[in-house]
Amino acid sequence: MASKVVEILETMEYGPAPESAAPANAWLDAHDRRFGMFIGGEWTVPGEGRLFDSVNPANGKPLAQITQASDDEVDRAVAAAQAAFASWSQAPGHVRARYLYALARQVQKHARLLAVLETLDNGKPIRETRDIDIPLVARHFYHHAGWAQLMAAELPGYAPLGVVGQIIPWNFPLLMLAWKVAPALAMGNTVVLKPAEWTSLTALLFAEICQEIGLPPGVVNIVTGDGKVGERIVNHAGIAKIAFTGSTEVGKIIRTATAGTGKKLSLELGGKSPFVVFDDADLDSVVEGVVDAIWFNQGQVCCAGSRLLVQEGVAERLHARLRARMEKLRVGNPLDKVVDIGAIIAPAQLDKIERLVAQGESEGATLWQPSWACPTEGYFFPPTLFTNVAPAATIAQVEIFGPVLVASTFRTPAEAVALANNTRYGLAASVWSEDINLALDIARQIKAGVVWINSTNQFDAASGFGGYRESGFGREGGKEGLYEYLRKAEGRRQKADAGVDQPFPSNDATGDAADGNSAVVQPSSFIVPPPIDRTPKHYIGGKQARPDSGYSRVVYGPDGRQIGEVGDGNRKDIRNAVEAARAAGKWASQTAHNRAQILYYIAENLSARASEFASRLRQSTGASTAAAQAEVEAAIEQLFTYAAWADKYDGAVHGTPLRAVTLAVPEPIGVLAIACPDEAPLLACVTAFAAATCVGNTVVLIPSERYPLLATDLYQVLDTSDLPGGVVNIVTGPRDALAKVLAEHNDVDAIWYFGSAEGSAMVERASVGNLKQTWVSNGHGRNWLREDSAEFLRHATQVKNIWVPYGA
Ligand code: NAI
Repeated sequence: MASKVVEILETMEYGPAPESAAPANAWLDAHDRRFGMFIGGEWTVPGEGRLFDSVNPANGKPLAQITQASDDEVDRAVAAAQAAFASWSQAPGHVRARYLYALARQVQKHARLLAVLETLDNGKPIRETRDIDIPLVARHFYHHAGWAQLMAAELPGYAPLGVVGQIIPWNFPLLMLAWKVAPALAMGNTVVLKPAEWTSLTALLFAEICQEIGLPPGVVNIVTGDGKVGERIVNHAGIAKIAFTGSTEVGKIIRTATAGTGKKLSLELGGKSPFVVFDDADLDSVVEGVVDAIWFNQGQVCCAGSRLLVQEGVAERLHARLRARMEKLRVGNPLDKVVDIGAIIAPAQLDKIERLVAQGESEGATLWQPSWACPTEGYFFPPTLFTNVAPAATIAQVEIFGPVLVASTFRTPAEAVALANNTRYGLAASVWSEDINLALDIARQIKAGVVWINSTNQFDAASGFGGYRESGFGREGGKEGLYEYLRKAEGRRQKADAGVDQPFPSNDATGDAADGNSAVVQPSSFIVPPPIDRTPKHYIGGKQARPDSGYSRVVYGPDGRQIGEVGDGNRKDIRNAVEAARAAGKWASQTAHNRAQILYYIAENLSARASEFASRLRQSTGASTAAAQAEVEAAIEQLFTYAAWADKYDGAVHGTPLRAVTLAVPEPIGVLAIACPDEAPLLACVTAFAAATCVGNTVVLIPSERYPLLATDLYQVLDTSDLPGGVVNIVTGPRDALAKVLAEHNDVDAIWYFGSAEGSAMVERASVGNLKQTWVSNGHGRNWLREDSAEFLRHATQVKNIWVPYGA
């Protein structure tokens, strides 16, 4: 029996595991496989006589017909974008954030369809579109929703440019769209985008998504066609900026065409990125790194690690392990979930690869390819390794843009740097060594816009990407990427509180909220049964917990009438809450992206119940309908603000006088206690816990003593928003007495107290035991509608400086 299992293990072949193409085919069929363009929020009719095929590279068969845009259509797209710019650029950041957020959500909802369609149209493996391209697309829109939200506060004095022309390539069709559209829209620009002629389908599906979320017409326009359409965009007088990704040749044409026109320009071009391996590197990791570097997306990646530079002593060993790994790679149907390498985009690209490989051989390099054959239907090329490559050889200098790795060796770190920099490009580099001194030293010397240490092809919306030298200029992603879509606004400062002044007209805050009666039980007559008792308990560890005392406190409305009851907290309740907050410490190690997602989810659920919260505010404080609605909207906006900050409250790299990087990393403080004020009882409470939790603290919160129902109503919002239990704990009761218990508690790391001068003094005195950090208001009120998030974030974090000296 045992021997049989061994036999099976030895011969076991992968079975096919194809992803179904049916939903994508159904979508194409629903459009008769013929597409017009998306201009001014409407679809143009497919252009008879101007249609060309979009082909599936895995079988060479046409998928659909796309329209070659006419000059008139490009002009109309620019005009539509110009018309939309006036209102889009003036909309408060929060409004744009809401649209970008909606785009992200919609991309996630259509993730499978987008992934399959992308794989059909481009030929890259479904594993990549499903696990890398599309999730990163959503991530870019989420991240830039955050920048839209923060623009007024973080980029004062900057203004959007106007209409941006964006021209993208075929290797990451939807991802390149997201890299370009998300920051442009976030900063208030409108867009005319042209996808590559070989891969326009996901851009067209994206246009439908824009329609679905009700993006105002003209904010995003998609025109299709070849380089001529690109040229028309580049030369259009109505365009303020060109953002281009593609070949260095076309990049140069565009530079020439835009020179002196006043158009802003960013270029993300080709590369020949070095992958440098020192003899102390972990070679097994290196092998997997190489697989990702050059066989990801068939090597059709601008930052592909296409030049393998290995220290002489380990070169033979590494090449042998690489060959063994290559033998196991699987090339084939990109829809098959166990396929590593899909199809090359088009016959022209395949020809180019074949031509350069032949040239490599004729120039004397040693070629190695696996023993198996590629599928014959469709455009496939096997993973290829060249060794003994002279630094001046064509294949060491020219971007092949295919699954071809070119290897040479070096002896010393200085030689590695010289070889790495021996290129006209400078997009990216990978450095592999277990010696961080050496790796950082080399990283600083290689001329490239991105350097990955012991890793490769890492991308994220929070980090800038872009080249040195002939790889182009400008950055995409990160805060640095935003400046590509901004200009200094002479003399016109943006209003930092624009979003608060004009609350976004949410769908949820209309209708029954206006009469104020929706959630308020009217004790009108005896035939109405008495309301079911609803005395909220405390909220501890994600559950409602009965107060230890067993007592509740009556809550009164502005007219002195009883409007509810809440639990009467004591010392024991506080101890339980602190214990729960401490136990939830893993919150700090969740990714910032996840924390942001949960805050957005809380915002979504609060928004769904906006009218109920507005009614509660009016009932509790006697606020006017407009004021109550404004407070709820402001609370939702604060959740967006801190969700935005979650992955942006970065540290810095300090210029200390050493050969070192000194990394200043803001860290959460730990368990943070918050005593909330009576003013703005919902907004203050939400602002405080959102600020504290977005950076990874867990919280024990005492709501307003006078208006606690706004906090207790939040329990259900928190419960339904995936917030892990214990991250936010709420104890109601005598606020100052509870604050004193928290200030004295040795397992509380910091306390914020918004209240009287006496209370502030009490908190500072009581905190001396473990010298916890305090932030007190000394009796000064705050204008919660105009909060300074930077101040909150500073108090929610402490900076750790990590010194990393380097030197070979
Ligand atoms: P390309 O640079 O011609 O095309 C990129 C985009 O520019 C497409 O949307 C195209 O329609 C547009 N375009 C072409 N000519 C234009 C012009 N004169 N004005 C304005 N827009 C224009 O790249 P192509 O032909 O698809 O690939 C050729 C080579 O370029 C590849 O073999 C590869 O080496 C490199 N490449 C590099 C990319 C990168 O990400 N850095 C992406 C795609 C290609």
